[in-house]
Amino acid sequence: MAKGKNTSNSVNKTKASKATNNENVSNQEIPSGAGYGSDNAKLDELSPNREESAGEFLSTNQGVRINDNQNSLKAGNRGPTLMEDFILREKITHFDHERIPERVVHARGSGAHGYFEVYESMAEYTKAAFLQDPSIKTPVFVRFSTVAGSRGSTDLARDVRGFAVKFYTQEGNYDLVGNNIPVFFIQDAIKFPDLIHAVKPEPHNEIPQAASAHDTFWDFISLMPESMHMIMWVMSDRAIPRSLRMMEGFGVHTFRFINERGKARFVKFHWKPLLGLHGVLWDEAQKLSGKDPDFHRRDLWEAIENGDFPQWELGVQIVEEKDEHSFDFDLLDPTKIIPEEIVPVQRIGKMTLNRNPDNFFAETEQVAFHTGNIVPGIDFTNDPLLQGRLFSYLDTQLLRLGGPNFHEIPINRPIAPVHNNQRDGFMRQTINRGQTSYEPNSLKGGCPFQAGVDMSGFNSFAERIDARKIRERSPSFLDHFSQATLFFNSQSEPEQNHIIRAFCFELGKVETPPIRERMLFLLAQVDKGLANRVAEGLGLAVPSKLEKPLNMSIPADVDPKRLQPKRVKPELTESPTLSMVENPNFPKEGIQTRKVAFLIADGFDDAAVAEMKQALMTAGAHPCTIAPRLGILTGENKEIANADFSFLTGASVLFDAVYVPGGEKSVAALKSEPEALNFVNEAYKHCKTIAATDAGVEFLEEAGLRAGSEKVERQTSDPGVIVSRSADLQTVATEFINAIAQHRHWGREAFLNSYGGSIARAFAAGAD
Ligand code: HEM
Repeated sequence: MAKGKNTSNSVNKTKASKATNNENVSNQEIPSGAGYGSDNAKLDELSPNREESAGEFLSTNQGVRINDNQNSLKAGNRGPTLMEDFILREKITHFDHERIPERVVHARGSGAHGYFEVYESMAEYTKAAFLQDPSIKTPVFVRFSTVAGSRGSTDLARDVRGFAVKFYTQEGNYDLVGNNIPVFFIQDAIKFPDLIHAVKPEPHNEIPQAASAHDTFWDFISLMPESMHMIMWVMSDRAIPRSLRMMEGFGVHTFRFINERGKARFVKFHWKPLLGLHGVLWDEAQKLSGKDPDFHRRDLWEAIENGDFPQWELGVQIVEEKDEHSFDFDLLDPTKIIPEEIVPVQRIGKMTLNRNPDNFFAETEQVAFHTGNIVPGIDFTNDPLLQGRLFSYLDTQLLRLGGPNFHEIPINRPIAPVHNNQRDGFMRQTINRGQTSYEPNSLKGGCPFQAGVDMSGFNSFAERIDARKIRERSPSFLDHFSQATLFFNSQSEPEQNHIIRAFCFELGKVETPPIRERMLFLLAQVDKGLANRVAEGLGLAVPSKLEKPLNMSIPADVDPKRLQPKRVKPELTESPTLSMVENPNFPKEGIQTRKVAFLIADGFDDAAVAEMKQALMTAGAHPCTIAPRLGILTGENKEIANADFSFLTGASVLFDAVYVPGGEKSVAALKSEPEALNFVNEAYKHCKTIAATDAGVEFLEEAGLRAGSEKVERQTSDPGVIVSRSADLQTVATEFINAIAQHRHWGREAFLNSYGGSIARAFAAGAD
């Protein structure tokens, strides 16, 4: 059959036998095996909804085959289009309706399928079926997101990352809708619309996109001292992760585990990434937003396509009911953590993400997470933020997904059977059979039945409540600063410096002076040194006192003195697990999935490149070549290499480390390429590992990095600059790999800062 045209009677009428020349047809089948098919009940369940057009005819939505998809139906070939053209109208109408409202928050996101396995039965603590049997793989769908930006905004915004996991358990869907930061800005859900209105682009001019560095956000924050703990996290490198695969996740609120005997305990949830905990520098984040705004999305997608399946361990902190009041904070207050030193995190299982979605819209966009989706064995607490969330998600999804039947969208359907008397509504898919849609009934023998508790019927934890109905905050929620101080004190020196610079940037973008001053006053409540250094950056003094009471969110007829923040004497002054750099949970080992740039041109040292590539790949890293132009490059010994990027399409911010091999001709070409010189300088500034061998060392010198030079003591002692003129490649490779495993060489920042942040000046001074 020629060009897909159905011109002959002998044509196979049920299947197109040949694609058109223009069609880029993928013959990819849905694979079976680990993570697919029978190994993952949710993927099996999605199967009937998958559409593959390979080898198929083009048709209308009514299944009528289309003969001409190039021309609308017209009265003559130069005449008006005819109303009768049902093919044109159907196509344009569907196109016109392609968009749905984006999420009001967390609009920008990336998703993946995978599975969860518990290490051993958690029956002592919870009866949740998916936490009983280590042989069961529970399918999951995960969506990571930023909060403030629109759907098309940059991945690298300074922001909280959403970390939402839908577990498709045998007992129904369980959603753990968390973030990568373990606390939140506010204590009560009633402030959520205010918080979001403050952080979103300002309403008069819709500026700025996906950024908190503007007046309305800091106006709100400066009047909400309860946000100070969260603000410290958001100004830290946690808010600019290197990868979605390299960040922690947290359930934030305290939840409950309930066991078979009905015994309840409090529980906090954690996700611990097996690739460690890493961030980028703010300068890097800003550049990445231009070079590749999809950096995190691409990173997740490519990792899964490459078989580098990201993994997290699920951790729990369990607190006995009797210990509810034994902390110096309130377990129901979502602006507080339970430090891991006080209640250790037990790792109870592992999640693996091993499959990219088939279709972004159908899966990642239409997935609907809800804190209210819980299963027997897990229950809520009275955290007033959580309580508000329990209303919000279902409510917003009714609008976003267009009606009450969004649970029938394939990605949202549980693998557990659904039978109830809910009926009708827009886009109803289920064809409910029979006469009855009510309960009790006798006409259908009472079906569907209520399930006994012993049959996985959900019954809420019977918490005793004996209280007055009141709009009030518990005095146990009033310590707004102790944990903010704990967080700051627990950071390494470079991390503290990054926090200070983040405040200087964010508040530096604020145009209203009193807002800056109010923030300085609040920072002084956290740490005087921090406040002084931010004040210095802003060219201001820290105010000694504010005219207004500190806590402005107080009802008009309540005595403000009653609700002023109160500091408690905390049990800890430092918690190393709050640091990313010195976190004992994440020793700096291995370089799996790290991207290493090889800067080469024609005449490169092909033997060195081959050996270094092999060593890096054996360690699990991904080497890429960057050259003055794309295409095939020829080495000194006539070995060839394909340039993955040119200096136009690649940039140092896209990589974790740089290697410059020798080859006189190659190095000479690189020396005359300003972008190549800029590449290593920027990598140096961002504290990345740089290695050079043979003539490659001269290139570093040309760039101003006189590594290895006897004159420059400081650089030779930089553990992140590895140079060798003797070409003992194995030794260099081992040193290079160990240095990349450190992620960044933050000590370098102090060196650069002491020269006013200028690399050129630093090196010029060093050379003297
Ligand atoms: C009262 C406080 C909160 C309210 C009212 C609220 C409301 C919302 C709403 C309306 C959405 C959009 C949902 C959708 O369209 O499907 C959303 C998404 C989200 N929220 Fe919240 N939220 C609150 C607090 C939090 C907190 C404390 C966390 C973290 C623990 C969180 C994590 C998320 C995540 C991860 C998403 C994105 C889910 C996805 O990927 O689809 N939210 N929230």
